[in-house]
Amino acid sequence: MKRIGMLTSGGDCQALNATMRGVVKGLTNTFKEVEIYGFLEGYRGMIYGNYKKLSAEDFSGILTRGGTILGSSRTPFKELDNPTPEGLDKVKCMKETYKKLKLDCLVVLGGNGSQKTANRLSEEGLNVIGCPKTIDNDIWGTDMTFGFQSAVDIATNAIDCIHTTAASHNRIFIVEVMGHKVGWITLHAGIASGADIILIPEIPYDIKNVVKALEKRTKQGKGFSILAVAEGAISKDVAALPKKERKAKVAEIAAKYPSVAYDIADQVKALLPGTDIRVTVPGHTQRGGSPVPYDRVISSLFGAKAAQLIKKEDFGKLVVMKNNEVTAIPLAESAGKLKYVSPDDSTVKYAKQLGISFGDE
Ligand code: F6P
Repeated sequence: MKRIGMLTSGGDCQALNATMRGVVKGLTNTFKEVEIYGFLEGYRGMIYGNYKKLSAEDFSGILTRGGTILGSSRTPFKELDNPTPEGLDKVKCMKETYKKLKLDCLVVLGGNGSQKTANRLSEEGLNVIGCPKTIDNDIWGTDMTFGFQSAVDIATNAIDCIHTTAASHNRIFIVEVMGHKVGWITLHAGIASGADIILIPEIPYDIKNVVKALEKRTKQGKGFSILAVAEGAISKDVAALPKKERKAKVAEIAAKYPSVAYDIADQVKALLPGTDIRVTVPGHTQRGGSPVPYDRVISSLFGAKAAQLIKKEDFGKLVVMKNNEVTAIPLAESAGKLKYVSPDDSTVKYAKQLGISFGDE
């Protein structure tokens, strides 16, 4: 008999259910008897002992369903050693829940912060396996996270729709894409939808370069332009500030505008007065709905790999995709690192060759 705990932690994304289904299918095809305990709302369920005993049937028919049947919440890693409002020691409570249920392994579907916590629990002696979840595709050590391609699909569709109306009205449109720290979704959706300008956190922009790119379009006889802008896009001036001042400046902008796209729209208007400019923010639609086929495939394979690792008792691992192979790396190797877009990334270089401006030159 194997007793497996499972939870979904952090911001949700597509294919969480598909991954859990993959884990459970992998387990039931590996072991004669398996008991699954699903913790509700991420680590919170483990801390407070809120869980459901689930059967294989509960994971049937959920391959295509968005969201997570277990619910999710954020339990920030940096606050892990702070007690809960009720004074509970979070790590101690999670260890007690694990022991009380006599678990053989805990499977954590989560992004960067959640995998850091998974690594901490592994260091505390629990058997843990991580599966790389996030629309942002920023988990270090994996080429791909599940959720990313689905989010790119939605962001691309949003920009495609904007394209036709922008062309009809000869307008400049700024579409704000998710990604506070990294620009993978914006980079891919921007290229996929033929955006003219892509602004991402890793490549700070100079508004004068952005305007130069817009004027170039006008000279080419193009009546409209599309900017794909990440939530965390940052100007060169702000990026160059010392950390404390930079944070204060970012907070000042956040207090003044609903989000960065509106700030950028104002900056463009200041240099190009009279321009007809609009902002569109698809927001959390990018995390919703059914996973695209690619995500269904990789999440199913990730789930099967997790089951294989449990069979081999090869714990403390994060399931990853490397060079088109599903494999695993130590949780400790990935914990605490983000996978950023490098300005030297070949995708960025070729995008520039296509004439896309990143506002940096
Ligand atoms: O980490 C996933 C993500 O969707 C980011 O792209 C985005 O910046 C953030 O979560 C939004 O968080 P919340 O759901 O808390 O608004």
